[in-house]
Amino acid sequence: MLGRRSRQAPSILSATVRQYAQANPATATGSSAGSGSLAQTESGDAEEAGATERVVNLQLLERNLLESKLMDAASGTHRGDAAGLTIDPGIPLDELVVRVKRDYQQRFGRAPQWLAAAPGRVNLIGEHTDYNEGFVLPMAIERYVVVAAAEVTGAAGEAEVGLHSCLLNQSERCQVGASDFRKLAPWARYVYGVMVGCGEQGLAPPALEVLIDSTVPLGGGLSSSAALEVATATLLEAVTGKSLDPIRKALLCQKAEHHYAGMPCGIMDQFTSVLGQASHLLLLDCRSTEVQLVPLADPDVEVLIINTNVKHELTGSEYPLRRSQCETAARTMGVRSLRDASPALLAEFSASLDPVLQCRARHVIGEIERTEMAAQCLAAGQWARLGELMYASHASLRDDYEVSCQELDLLVELAQKHGAGGKVIGSRMTGGGFGGCTVSLVRKNHLEAVAAAIGTDYRQQTGIAPSLFTTRPAQGAQIVRG
Ligand code: GLA
Repeated sequence: MLGRRSRQAPSILSATVRQYAQANPATATGSSAGSGSLAQTESGDAEEAGATERVVNLQLLERNLLESKLMDAASGTHRGDAAGLTIDPGIPLDELVVRVKRDYQQRFGRAPQWLAAAPGRVNLIGEHTDYNEGFVLPMAIERYVVVAAAEVTGAAGEAEVGLHSCLLNQSERCQVGASDFRKLAPWARYVYGVMVGCGEQGLAPPALEVLIDSTVPLGGGLSSSAALEVATATLLEAVTGKSLDPIRKALLCQKAEHHYAGMPCGIMDQFTSVLGQASHLLLLDCRSTEVQLVPLADPDVEVLIINTNVKHELTGSEYPLRRSQCETAARTMGVRSLRDASPALLAEFSASLDPVLQCRARHVIGEIERTEMAAQCLAAGQWARLGELMYASHASLRDDYEVSCQELDLLVELAQKHGAGGKVIGSRMTGGGFGGCTVSLVRKNHLEAVAAAIGTDYRQQTGIAPSLFTTRPAQGAQIVRG
């Protein structure tokens, strides 16, 4: 049913990426007259997602169980040692590429012909606003999915694709467009869905052997799935020698996530993985798809990501529920989306709108405004105000949107406590919620001490070792040469 619906390509097909101009603050708000082509795609999907809710929830349940098993394994091995107190330096992209080439050679007895990489993302502010046509302010991170492939010559009939995940040590085989995707492991459905979508755009793959590796933490709210989707689409660009328009590519990946993984996500993750820019955050208008680049290059400010290493929501129903609550609230107030609502309009409906829906709408309306203000603060170097906005965002997600959890709240409280006096600029949960990560902006010369103090207290109070790393804003997806 989901696959039958044909989708109009949005009218804006080339990414409008501009430098954020502080001298022209109107640019931050001046796009509300966007064509809405993307929103039509989005709300169409919301209806579809509602109609297939049971399938969606089963798929999400399967995926979430897998992710939480992996997270248990990860935090279990860390418990009791020094992990959680130090910052993980991670593996640079070029080292990951070397590892992938070596593993490919070992597994398939030859070198891969094509390689592609796509980053995860962290969202600085603007949470649960993308599917409400609002603003988000994410950046790509220095954690990547890398995919490698070589053609299988002499394959007859339908092109068969072999997939191997190094992270899970699992293999799958499929025929793009002809396999029952429900029989594939959850991770392989993302790849399959993107390959089907690419085929529809004239980038159908030949018979391939594909190997996948990743340094994006699973289940941490850092878009490991979007990175996998975008890396796959980028790989097929390399294989076929054809390019996808960046916006079309991000939407194709989002569609794969909706239809083949059952997650009715917004557009933030895929857009960031495609369009990420070194040294910049992306102020993305999720109505017009216009992107403005906001510099984040102050050498004195570090982006610290702390993973709670917990995931509480296992049924996958909370995200679609929030989405439909927002749509109901918007409909009740007579606006197309919560992007068009205001505190005054919400007050007008205080008697008639369900109290829970009022809370949900209050979060979204406030968060859209906070996100625009945060971009202005960043551009003007108003760090203290930016920090206040981040803490306010967290409180709103905790109290009004109810997507935080005790572990996330604890990390934010500890950041506030150990970062007093300006050592920590601001901190908040990031991503969908119910576990996963916080993002904090920390002054460079206090980074090690603050990270160790937060990590120690968190581990002491929860019995769980967190994972910590810093990242600069990274470049989006790329074909890896040679
Ligand atoms: C998930 C979704 C995104 C976005 C965030 C919340 O990451 O994939 O589209 O809705 O949650 O901001």
